[in-house]
Amino acid sequence: MKNLFRLDDDVAVVIGGTGELGGTMAESLGAFGAKVAVVGRNAERGGVRAASINDAGGEAKFFAADGLNADSLDEARGQIKQWAGAPASVLVNAAGGNRPEATIPPGGDICKLPLDAWRDVFDLNLVGGALLPSQVFGQDMIDAGVGSVINIASMSGTIPLSRVVAYSAAKAAVINLTMWLAREWSTTGVRVNAISPGFFPAEQNRKLLFNEDGSYTERGGQIIGHTPMNRFC
Ligand SMILES: NC(=O)c1ccc[n+]([C@@H]2O[C@H](COP(=O)([O-])OP(=O)(O)OC[C@H]3O[C@@H](n4cnc5c(N)ncnc54)[C@H](O)[C@@H]3O)[C@@H](O)[C@H]2O)c1
Repeated sequence: MKNLFRLDDDVAVVIGGTGELGGTMAESLGAFGAKVAVVGRNAERGGVRAASINDAGGEAKFFAADGLNADSLDEARGQIKQWAGAPASVLVNAAGGNRPEATIPPGGDICKLPLDAWRDVFDLNLVGGALLPSQVFGQDMIDAGVGSVINIASMSGTIPLSRVVAYSAAKAAVINLTMWLAREWSTTGVRVNAISPGFFPAEQNRKLLFNEDGSYTERGGQIIGHTPMNRFC
């Protein structure tokens, strides 16, 4: 299996590799031989993740960039190309998340949802979490005639999840953009796919799922109540 899926000639860029899902994917890409650029805003967390890939025998480095800032992404693109000796051939878009202000609490009212919070969630997930990095890193892949873009959508993008209205709609848009790009770039050699995870405890949802003592919140308990394996991923 490992030989079949070796990535020795690949340069993988993981935006949001500072987080749980992106960080874990970065480690796996490194374990399969890709040179991994861990990209994000938090140098400490990114550095720790890159170090753990290097300690496991892989090759990784942290590069600072904000998914919502085209200039910083382009700067990171140049630095990564120089470090790896080749442009990115894999792009994982794992920056994303929700904002409490864009959530409808029980008994809350969608008619009162603040538009700026809605826009922030769309900006983060659709623009910074998919569109902008694809624009910045996609051109090198098109020029090379090979590449793979992997967006992290969500199950809530196909079945809207209660309360998280802006997040669900933004992830639906990520899925739609993924299909659009997959079609648009289909003849260039660049593949575009999305993964829709279920519930994984991560930074952005830990408070929603767990109390400080580690027990489930009401919401966490409800989710587990609908989960036959009785545990989170
Ligand atoms: N955890 C889950 O249950 C779950 C389920 C479905 C989808 N997802 C999606 O998976 C992706 C990864 O999330 P996670 O759960 O690992 O959360 P996480 O909070 O652990 O990771 C997200 C990372 O993205 C970074 N980030 C946020 N804004 C950024 C920006 N503008 N530029 C660069 N980096 C930025 C954060 O600092 C963080 O390190 C997100 O798109 C999330 O919506 C998560």
